[in-house]
Amino acid sequence: MNQQRQYLAGASGWYAAIALHLLMLCAFFSETPVRAQSLGILEAAPFTGTNGRQVFEHICQGCHMPNAVGAVGAGRFPALADNPTLASRDYVALTVLMGRRNMPAFSAKHAIGFAGPPVVLSETQMAAVINYVRTHFGNHYKDSISAAEVAALDQGYH
Ligand code: HEC
Repeated sequence: MNQQRQYLAGASGWYAAIALHLLMLCAFFSETPVRAQSLGILEAAPFTGTNGRQVFEHICQGCHMPNAVGAVGAGRFPALADNPTLASRDYVALTVLMGRRNMPAFSAKHAIGFAGPPVVLSETQMAAVINYVRTHFGNHYKDSISAAEVAALDQGYH
């Protein structure tokens, strides 16, 4: 009788250990998609860097991932790497200015807060990051866009 009780106590210890490990595993996997939202863009101070790479790393990489490889998890974040839609600089510019479905807008006119205050990029920052993603990560588009051209595109849309 005693022996049986001990056996049972031992067995429930095992179950508890297994359950704990399963919980830890769940916690680990549920962490993974959340990374897509761990954006620097929730920082309180507005980001002022004007270098394309810096803008990418601070603002875009949180969703589009390092090296712009994209991610599928809590949402679908398309890869910007080797992406033929980037051939159109206006398409990229309008996406950044106005947002696109689950992607937030970054122009002063269109940015709205999502999980925090709106994140606004200047035309200089937008031009820099557009030119950066179109010439990195396997993209080799030769034409570029200026801050004035980004501003003009913005004026064209209300
Ligand atoms: C909060 C997440 C998020 C951030 C931050 C973000 N994007 Fe996006 N982006 C998305 C999502 C989601 C899509 C897909 C939109 C759709 O459904 O078509 C997308 C689409 C795009 C596309 C279109 C790709 C295609 O194949 O059509 C471009 C270009 C792009 N993003 C560039 C950028 C740049 C540049 C930045 C930084 C200034 C940036 N994104 C920041 C979420 C984000």
